[in-house]
Amino acid sequence: MPNRTRMIAGNWKMNNDVPAAKKLAEELVAAVPTSDAVEVVVCPPTIDLACTSHKLAGSAIKLGGQNVYWEEKGAYTGETSTGMLKSVNAEYCIIGHSERRDYFHETDEDVNKKARALMAAGITPISCCGESLEVREAGKHVEFVVDQIKKDTEGLEITDPSKYVIAYEPIWAIGTGKTATADDAQEVCGAIRKTLVEIFGQETADGIRVLYGGSAKPENIAGFLEKEDVDGALVGGASLVAESFAAMVEKAAE
Ligand code: 13P
Repeated sequence: MPNRTRMIAGNWKMNNDVPAAKKLAEELVAAVPTSDAVEVVVCPPTIDLACTSHKLAGSAIKLGGQNVYWEEKGAYTGETSTGMLKSVNAEYCIIGHSERRDYFHETDEDVNKKARALMAAGITPISCCGESLEVREAGKHVEFVVDQIKKDTEGLEITDPSKYVIAYEPIWAIGTGKTATADDAQEVCGAIRKTLVEIFGQETADGIRVLYGGSAKPENIAGFLEKEDVDGALVGGASLVAESFAAMVEKAAE
């Protein structure tokens, strides 16, 4: 039986200025239970990474970025390098979020380059995929996500499968209150796993965490976690309230 440590990751998106980030980080340290059964990550905006890192120091909560650029340094105004993420002890970084794909035109090729840069730097990518409502209604969601996975992982060498994470986030379920059912999540996460087996072989595929994201909250997390190929959640709105995020971690630790 595959033995994957569950993961609950919070994506703060563009919320919390520095004072608010410090306050939330303090509350999280106090509220989030520590358990070997679940890895906990928070991904604040870039401006908050340093202060959040400082507040999380000594706790079991790990830090992640929300974006990265693949060049090491230079004239790339507004971008953040892997070295900069490492300098604040970020161990994870979200890439390919649907908001970045939609609003900032991030492509699968970009996502692949970002994954390569992160992995070369020893930072774990949390690589997002997911279909729009239109694709889902056309019944093409599995095909669409499998294609994203193939492109996003192209040529990657995964030596430690615990250091590459995928998040399946159906776009129509993000921030809408419309949650995919646990069966919807399993259908796509199962197809992702099968694709990973084809690409990387069974052993590696068995070690890669596949998270669900999209209106995940304390009330529905348990249903997702029961599913064979769902290994945790990437949480937006509910990660901004320490109590709800902690409750989700608690459920994942059960
Ligand atoms: P919500 O949990 O707010 O729907 O956001 C999900 C998400 O996009 C996490 O990356």
